[in-house]
Amino acid sequence: MSETNPKYVELLKAAKEAAQRAYAPYSKFPVGAALLGDDGRVFSGCNVENASYGATRCAEQTAVQKAVSEGCRKFVAVAVHCSETDDCWPCGICRQVLNEFAPEIDVIVDAGNGSVTVIRLPELLTRSFCPKDLPS
Ligand code: THU
Repeated sequence: MSETNPKYVELLKAAKEAAQRAYAPYSKFPVGAALLGDDGRVFSGCNVENASYGATRCAEQTAVQKAVSEGCRKFVAVAVHCSETDDCWPCGICRQVLNEFAPEIDVIVDAGNGSVTVIRLPELLTRSFCPKDLPS
């Protein structure tokens, strides 16, 4: 769904700024993410690559790790941006990481013309595996 919710447009702006801080010398694919906590705080993140490629962290994961380590575990929305492509949706692992804390989160990407595309996580990660699937 395309919309112009000012809060979400602002969140995408924070993701764009975060992408400028990406460390992506190998892929040359700089990604930024901005996560809106339910307490109103915004946590941004960028991808941080590594010469040992498997040690690379995606932008969304950086943002989640920053938020959780600052005491925020509930999220309303996440914006994702990459200057290399119009539609930069979270990868499968990032969808799973978001699902751990915010299974109903709104995922936001650029739709152009100052508007954003918003899709809720259950649509991007159907029949997900989540904490409640584990035996207690
Ligand atoms: N990347 C992200 O930061 N988020 C995603 O959801 C997709 C992929 C990064 C990882 C790697 O640094 C680069 O994009 C190319 O895969």
